[in-house]
Amino acid sequence: MAGLTSSTIGRKYAMALSAMFLLIFLIMHLSVNLLSLGGENGPFNAASYFMGYNPLIQFVMQPILVIGVIFHFVMGFILEIRNRNARPVKYAVNGAAANSTWMSRNMIVSGAVILAFLGLHMYDFWLHEMTYKYIPGEGDANDLTRFWGELHGKFAELWRVIIYVVSFILLGLHLAHGFQSSFQSVGARHPKYTPVIKAIGTWYSILIPAGFILVAVFHYVTQ
Ligand code: HEM
Repeated sequence: MAGLTSSTIGRKYAMALSAMFLLIFLIMHLSVNLLSLGGENGPFNAASYFMGYNPLIQFVMQPILVIGVIFHFVMGFILEIRNRNARPVKYAVNGAAANSTWMSRNMIVSGAVILAFLGLHMYDFWLHEMTYKYIPGEGDANDLTRFWGELHGKFAELWRVIIYVVSFILLGLHLAHGFQSSFQSVGARHPKYTPVIKAIGTWYSILIPAGFILVAVFHYVTQ
């Protein structure tokens, strides 16, 4: 990784690869979450059990995901700091509003909000699950029907639903620029395909956050 991450181009490339990995993760994550719309006796419990107990997912995919997430955030901050230092004359003077979008100039802001959201999200779900699974007496780890009820219960409080929904909107803004930018950074530029990638990116950045919003709001209104 040292060679890949020691130049700005290399860093952008590595950043884009980690972004693409996270784009795929979000599709999978949303797919499992959408199963929860099937209700208490729907397929969500079985899917969650599989995701939480399959050794390949737990001990191979999950560590890769954690590394991918941390790498993406650390690299994002490094790139931002370097870009700022390399740009002593601030953007506004160059007429930034005219030659770049608000989203592209504020990736660090939307990224920081998503990072804060992930802190709450891990506390809400992951920490709870780890405690349940690994601390004796905290819960019956053999209860494989608990997942839906736990998720449902989390969205009983309006303040949490609001924080989640606002975070999903910022995730959408982050993805609106990030999706197509990651393809550009790996050199996928072509007069024919770039407009297609941009169109897919626009749809992706609307549908994925909309799906997460649907899940959060569904559980709130069906309490
Ligand atoms: C309504 C929306 C969402 C719901 C209901 C939800 C629910 C969950 C649940 C139940 C887990 C499993 C915890 C565990 O058992 O280990 C989880 C893990 C996770 N979620 Fe979400 N999530 C949502 C949105 C998001 C979003 C938008 C992101 C990213 C920006 C995200 C990132 C993660 C990550 C990184 C993990 C850890 C994965 C792992 O445990 O392997 N989630 N989420």
